[in-house]
Amino acid sequence: MNLQGIPSISDLPMTGQRVLMRVDFNVPLQDGEITDDTRIRAALPSINHVIEEGGRLVLMSHLGRPKGKPNPVFSLEPVARRLAELLDVGEVTLTDSCVGDGAKRVVFESRESQVVLLENLRFHSGETENDDKFAQTLASYGEVYINDAFGTAHRAHASTVGVTKYIRKKGAGLLLKKELTALGGLLGEVERPYVAVLGGAKVSDKLDIIESLLQKVDVLLIGGAMANTLAAAVGGTYGNSLVELDKFPLARDLLARAEQRNVKLIIPDDVVVAAGLDATESTVVDASAVPDGQMALDIGPKTREKYKEFLSRAKTVFWNGPMGVFEKEPFAEGTFAVARAIAGSTAFSVTGGGDSVAAVRKSGLERGFDHISTGGGASLKLIEGKPLPGIAALS
Ligand code: 3PG
Repeated sequence: MNLQGIPSISDLPMTGQRVLMRVDFNVPLQDGEITDDTRIRAALPSINHVIEEGGRLVLMSHLGRPKGKPNPVFSLEPVARRLAELLDVGEVTLTDSCVGDGAKRVVFESRESQVVLLENLRFHSGETENDDKFAQTLASYGEVYINDAFGTAHRAHASTVGVTKYIRKKGAGLLLKKELTALGGLLGEVERPYVAVLGGAKVSDKLDIIESLLQKVDVLLIGGAMANTLAAAVGGTYGNSLVELDKFPLARDLLARAEQRNVKLIIPDDVVVAAGLDATESTVVDASAVPDGQMALDIGPKTREKYKEFLSRAKTVFWNGPMGVFEKEPFAEGTFAVARAIAGSTAFSVTGGGDSVAAVRKSGLERGFDHISTGGGASLKLIEGKPLPGIAALS
């Protein structure tokens, strides 16, 4: 996806304008506290740009999936507080709702260095339903519309698509541009070998991305529970491992197609198994011979070495999804080994998706990656070469 025909925030007038900006502040929370503020930090360049240029900024975002009803658990209140701490200048005012008289008053009475943050868009079903009236109300808050919510660009919602019908001056924020440039770099000609690493629970969730990667990459390294389905589909025993029994024919078909295309689709040779997620004892077994009562929870040491070898020779790398249950220390090593191997390679490396990104951060290896996407589903859709409605609506 390129940015041809889409104005950038720096091409649009800001001074004295009310700037309505869609950001993705869908951050992880635990007991009301933000556990990772990456998405807020990532929006700062665009936010500071508007403030520095003398625009009056109205930010809007969703948080979680409150299903169209106000719910204090999903309030953007902690986000407003964190944003205020991170801003160079200015104050942040959170509205009581994203629509209604209260919001309207705050928006229209706001001053230049005051940032208005609308309360969670998804407290109203009009957002996810892309309701025209709801979109029109949001649009009334801005003379200029900026979309900087890359993480939500794959959703055709009122704040990403509907609103664009009603604001003529619209464009992409700095984060959106950065994401499209980095991820878009994987869509055209890339330096080879191109190695992709895919993990996660289900083959069925990753079907589209596997299909599209098979047409691009030289090597596809598989980990996580989805590898169990592939191993079991070709005859391995899987004990209590998570497998998708109904996806065996599909798994065999993927393996056959990889061979036809000359893509090395590699599944683990060995896995770390245990009686369950909370087990303190684990052993390493052949990936095709998981004993009864045991489940595969990480890739084993032989596999880690093999994947490291492939990654050390790669010139381009895309990684999505953990290799095991990395949140649990006994099953984290496979994921961290992959993170280290990518960070240590000279390849152009991109990762996207909440879990793999969390693993990169947890291991402090951010600097070893050329791009860490703020998008999960959006980054996969983009790599699949699918149009992103939130981007298309800007042209
Ligand atoms: C994400 O976290 O991937 C985005 O914020 C989109 O959230 P959603 O999957 O709830 O639409």
